[in-house]
Amino acid sequence: MSLPGLLSFHHVLMLSVLTGAADGYYNYRWTQCIYSSPDLSDMVFIEGFYFNKYPLVKFNSTVGKFVGFTEFGVRNCRVLWNKDPNILQQEKAQVDVFCRHNAEITEAAVYNKTVQPKVKLSSVTPGDKTHPALVMCSVYDFYPESIKVSWLQDGVVVTSDVTNTEELPNGNWLYQIHSELEYTPKLGQKISCVVEHASFSKPMIYDWDPPVPEFEFNIQLLFTIETAGLVLGILIAAAGFIYYKMKSAGL
Ligand SMILES: *[C@@H]1O[C@H](CO)[C@@H](O)[C@H](O)[C@H]1NC(C)=O
Ligand SMILES: *[C@@H]1O[C@H](CO)[C@@H](O)[C@H](O)[C@H]1NC(C)=O
Repeated sequence: MSLPGLLSFHHVLMLSVLTGAADGYYNYRWTQCIYSSPDLSDMVFIEGFYFNKYPLVKFNSTVGKFVGFTEFGVRNCRVLWNKDPNILQQEKAQVDVFCRHNAEITEAAVYNKTVQPKVKLSSVTPGDKTHPALVMCSVYDFYPESIKVSWLQDGVVVTSDVTNTEELPNGNWLYQIHSELEYTPKLGQKISCVVEHASFSKPMIYDWDPPVPEFEFNIQLLFTIETAGLVLGILIAAAGFIYYKMKSAGL
């Protein structure tokens, strides 16, 4: 069996259908830039040459040379690509000129980009004289992931009775987090949720406006009834006084 001719390094760039048969054959080159470090120091350039999905030859920048996977691929590497210093040098340079260059552009478009969260405070348990109240601070749709959510009670940071969830990915680059505070409701107390995030230039404070506790509501209602009674009394007295005046003036 005679092997097909050697591949030309430059002319396998394009996916090309080699025959007119119904299924066809395809021949493609797949390049990858793989890294995880933000400074791109662990960048690896991988280039694979495939025929009908099977790899013929791969280049891995960490290995620094071509590796063949089929008899044809091995022969290509041995007699041609690994023997040509120009091809090897060009291929090794890809980790910088192709991978790092493009990664820097992509990173600049993503890094330092922030999305401000939407913050919502809600009552989980209203609480009363015997049971503590539970309030939740929900922080939605922020980017990046790193965030700090804390609580202030009358201006003092509360560390106990706080439960935080993890930062939960929404699956669309944005995250959410929820924090609960257990507290004993008192008249006139001030509770706030504090959110610190890269999208804010300073910590943002969200005040909790609790549902009015029952006893406080009763006091307010009582006060309202008393006030209404007083106003009514004054009106009646004034009307009576005017009536008396009019009568005594003989009108
Ligand atoms: C590239 O080569 C290195 C060193 O052999 C290896 O650890 C790594 O897994 C290879 N990467 C890929 C994607 O094959
Ligand atoms: C992001 O911001 C930091 C500090 O402001 C800066 O040092 C860094 O170069 C920026 N990164 C990008 C990719 O713009």
